[in-house]
Amino acid sequence: MSAPAPGGISPAGDLLLTNIGELTTNVAVDGDPCGTVQGAAVLVRGGHVVWAGPSDRVPDAGGGVDVVDAGGRAVIPGFVDSHTHLVFGGDRAAEFAARMAGEPYAAGGIRTTVAATRAASEDELRQRLRAFVGECRSQGTTTLEIKTGYGLDVATETRLARLAAEVTDEVTFLGAHVVAPEFAGRADDYVDLVVGPMLDAVAPHARWVDVFCEAGAFTPAQSRRVLEAGRAKGLGIRVHGNQLGYGAGAALAVAMGAAAVDHCTFLTDDDVIALAGSETVATLLPGVEFSTRQPYPDARRLLAAGVTLALASDCNPGSSFTSSMPLMIALAVREMGMTPAEAVWAATAGGARALRRTDVGVIEPGAKADLVLLDAPSRVHLAYRPGVPLVRRVWKDGLIAGPTG
Ligand code: NIG
Ligand code: FE
Repeated sequence: MSAPAPGGISPAGDLLLTNIGELTTNVAVDGDPCGTVQGAAVLVRGGHVVWAGPSDRVPDAGGGVDVVDAGGRAVIPGFVDSHTHLVFGGDRAAEFAARMAGEPYAAGGIRTTVAATRAASEDELRQRLRAFVGECRSQGTTTLEIKTGYGLDVATETRLARLAAEVTDEVTFLGAHVVAPEFAGRADDYVDLVVGPMLDAVAPHARWVDVFCEAGAFTPAQSRRVLEAGRAKGLGIRVHGNQLGYGAGAALAVAMGAAAVDHCTFLTDDDVIALAGSETVATLLPGVEFSTRQPYPDARRLLAAGVTLALASDCNPGSSFTSSMPLMIALAVREMGMTPAEAVWAATAGGARALRRTDVGVIEPGAKADLVLLDAPSRVHLAYRPGVPLVRRVWKDGLIAGPTG
């Protein structure tokens, strides 16, 4: 075993993390979905976990491994933020301030960001995106889904998808975010564009198709058209729904076998039953309720019914301008009735389920070595110490990815 390298950096992504006070593996054992191990170690080779378990059983790591002593602190899988809108121009601070003075949130604000995004140069968008990705990494996010949806014309949507694909494999085509301003009053014509030339241009850069199925955005029939067209192009399906009121989004997502339906703030009992009997993950986005002063979704009701939950940031300039997964965990625990263990699971393994990934959100042999060392003895502190920067070190693929500075 080599001496610890300065800063623990290993170009090859080989690492032995020892003296972990509490390890969250998310490999379920004995009624503990978090697969918690007290007094643990993790061995990483070539950017993948090769062993995780109790320290007294750690295998011989051999040579050339950077050894990092966790000092009794907690280690969790890197956060899987399965819902963001990180490529855009401008911001909407004035809209936020007006909302905090009593104005309601409305889907139409999206068009303000569309104008700013169309006006931005490709380089501006790229620099901004990269800064946001750095912000996410330094807060422990190692897997990021990024949507288009602030271009709403073929050229700009394609640009956004290309830029997103530079930083993640989880790119989602959201041309059906709202009806483009040029198509005001002609929503079906806009859907023709989305399912035709726009999808043709964007699909090569994307893994997913999404639609905002909500009053003020797209009807259930229009939403189905968009999702079917995306699926025919080989894209996986996700849905924005049930954010601003009751509606068909969740039922449509389940009926079409979507990987996830996101928001789920307003759900009927039938929606909950449908979700519980499906493979569709309900992704809760408490940053939205925080930033729009809406009521939070009732996570306990969903968990009691057996629905699989993910937590994500929905980072966007309108409804939730935060990239902080620790904040989502704190809100989920304090405002939505989740336990700290449930919230951490939902922000890691739940996000992985929502992206239909088995190689992230978990610390087990074969998984990507995406790890977060907390400056705390347990994951509970993520909710117990809200707003405190507890992410001490982040590894992505076994390499240090944050925090910066
Ligand atoms: O997920 N719901 C639709 N889209 C975003 C909001 C985007 C915006 O307001 O700019 C969301 O909340
Ligand atoms: Fe969203």
